[in-house]
Amino acid sequence: MAYTVAVAGKGGTGKTTLAGFLIDYLAEKRLSPVLAVDADPNANLNEVLGEDVEITLSDIREDVSIKNRDGNLPSGMTKTDYINYKLQQAIIEGKGFDLLVMGRPEGPGCYCFANGILREATDRLSDNYKVLVIDNEAGLEHLSRRTTKNVDMMFAVSECSKRGIQAAARVKQLIEELNLDVKELYLIVNRVPEEGLSEDIKAAIESSGLKLAGTVPLDEMVFEYDNKGIPLVKLPKDCKAVKSIREIFDKILLSQIKA
Ligand SMILES: Nc1ncnc2c1ncn2[C@@H]1O[C@H](COP(=O)(O)OP(=O)(O)O)[C@@H](O)[C@H]1O
Ligand SMILES: [Mg+2]
Repeated sequence: MAYTVAVAGKGGTGKTTLAGFLIDYLAEKRLSPVLAVDADPNANLNEVLGEDVEITLSDIREDVSIKNRDGNLPSGMTKTDYINYKLQQAIIEGKGFDLLVMGRPEGPGCYCFANGILREATDRLSDNYKVLVIDNEAGLEHLSRRTTKNVDMMFAVSECSKRGIQAAARVKQLIEELNLDVKELYLIVNRVPEEGLSEDIKAAIESSGLKLAGTVPLDEMVFEYDNKGIPLVKLPKDCKAVKSIREIFDKILLSQIKA
């Protein structure tokens, strides 16, 4: 069973950016192979990693349901055989990691199906990998859908505002309410201004009950690379954001994965 790390939090807080940095970090530390799962319908983890996506799990769902309806499944193959065969094609091979992308399902019903494929695929593939990194969609729906079950480490990512911290605290509450199997939950405050956390924010963190893993500064280079369409994993390792996030991984994650 792979060590599973998931990122959660509101849209735009930096989940995908942090997931990308994590995958790059793990590959460099040779804590690989890593299976990266982009579970956000607005998939863009591949861009952060600099990989092209050809087939998503939603495409597979679409293809399977059409072939199944028309009786066009390859002869001798059951629907499950065919899904598994297509899944092999959907695995994008990067340097030190593989990437699976859920993609955008066509309708509400399809969503569950694509999610089902995703869950089965990650469960089945998980043994072949050292670490599983799940980049979740914005919001907390994925928690109630339990896409992210058996998580060893969850990072709740927040913007640097009181509201942001309160939203991150909801992650903790939901995990408790739904009795989810999340072994460790840590807060990461992203895009922190140069002057650091204000007293108000510190107080909000305190009352959230969340453990603070660390903070990541606002880094113009991240914006710059993003706007130019350069994969963020190509950022220099000593730029502010990458340096800070790596310190967090060194402190919180490294020994846990190695153990
Ligand atoms: N530390 C940072 N400094 C500057 N920009 C950042 C930082 N972290 C993320 N960003 C930018 O914020 C935007 C949202 O980040 P993203 O990772 O896509 O968020 P999410 O996945 O939570 O929606 C992106 O344009 C990204 O480049
Ligand atoms: Mg994202």
